[in-house]
Amino acid sequence: MAHVKIFDTTLRDGEQSPGVNLNRPEKLEIAKQLERFGVDVMEAGFPASSQGDFESVREIANTIKNVSVTGLARAVKSDIDTAWEALKNGTDPRLHVFIATSPIHMTHKLKKTPEEVIDKAVEMVTYGRTMFPKVEWSAEDASRSDLEFLARIIEKVIDAGATVINLPDTVGYTTPYEYGQMFKYIKQNVPNIENVDLSAHCHDDLGMAVANSISAIENGATQIEGTINGIGERAGNAALEELAVALKIRQDYYAPHETRLVLNEIKRTSDLVSKLTGMQVPRNKAVVGQNAFAHESGIHQDGVLKHAQTYEIITPEMVGVKSNSLVMGKHSGKHAFKDKLKQIGYDLSDEKVMEAFTEFKKLTDSKKEVTDDDLFTILTEIQTQT
Ligand code: KIV
Ligand code: ZN
Repeated sequence: MAHVKIFDTTLRDGEQSPGVNLNRPEKLEIAKQLERFGVDVMEAGFPASSQGDFESVREIANTIKNVSVTGLARAVKSDIDTAWEALKNGTDPRLHVFIATSPIHMTHKLKKTPEEVIDKAVEMVTYGRTMFPKVEWSAEDASRSDLEFLARIIEKVIDAGATVINLPDTVGYTTPYEYGQMFKYIKQNVPNIENVDLSAHCHDDLGMAVANSISAIENGATQIEGTINGIGERAGNAALEELAVALKIRQDYYAPHETRLVLNEIKRTSDLVSKLTGMQVPRNKAVVGQNAFAHESGIHQDGVLKHAQTYEIITPEMVGVKSNSLVMGKHSGKHAFKDKLKQIGYDLSDEKVMEAFTEFKKLTDSKKEVTDDDLFTILTEIQTQT
């Protein structure tokens, strides 16, 4: 089965979420958990961005031994030197150097011609390779770049020694079909592309980051970049836990692709990132949201009690969640209600269950979710009536 490499950028692009600022011990704690989770590469930060980030990246590179640790650098020699200082004692150090390739970025941000951008990219990859055994080169805003130009610059940076080519959808603009076609085009039009890893890096501005990443895999990407809980700039990055579970659950469709991720570490990783970044996971978020394995409607609860797969395509255990939950609310039915009473220690006659159920239904008109304490009150009242 083909192995899709997972490049985690929670500690770099994820930390770029407005309002998030991780200190050194927090970054290290997350890095250790990412190692347990089984990512192939972790981007520990942007060493030239601050002294604090430099120290965090260095500590992570010196501590994490089973994962390749990388750091971001602009196409600037001093950024690359700083990245090397931070990463040089790592087991498998990788430089991640980027330059924008779209007309809007080249004209307005870089104020460079396309030829100047090619020269700069080649110069920096060549320079990076004088120190680093692996150099990932990213074409920032690749998805809004001219494809012929993209193919030309990629060919040149591969010749200069790049070992990974990353094609980011920097502003989350593309759609799955379009993004996949870009990978297909590059695979077909760049000599030696087979000798490097081809990577996808998607943002979620239009809510398509995970779908776009999957489309990239279908069209030849061998590495996917993303973050835990999908945190990141603006609307965030591709959520790695969603991607990993989608590949696993739809192996029939995406076969033969798999990741090395330890899926039952997902919940623990998600909780840790949420706690340390202060970025709450929405209740309805796929895979890790509080509601992802909760059922409220009577029809669904009845189905799940008869056979979990009626309404659950992922088992909670697969992602490290203890169990599903049947939430007692106004849509709940008798089957789940009776089951709930048994769980909290009440084995009542059918008649008593009906009485309690009637009281419970009355209460749901004024309460969104009925708690165990509410149920105890109802049951105590019913039992004192006899
Ligand atoms: O989104 C992006 O283009 C990036 C690059 C720096 C890789 O994060
Ligand atoms: Zn990004």
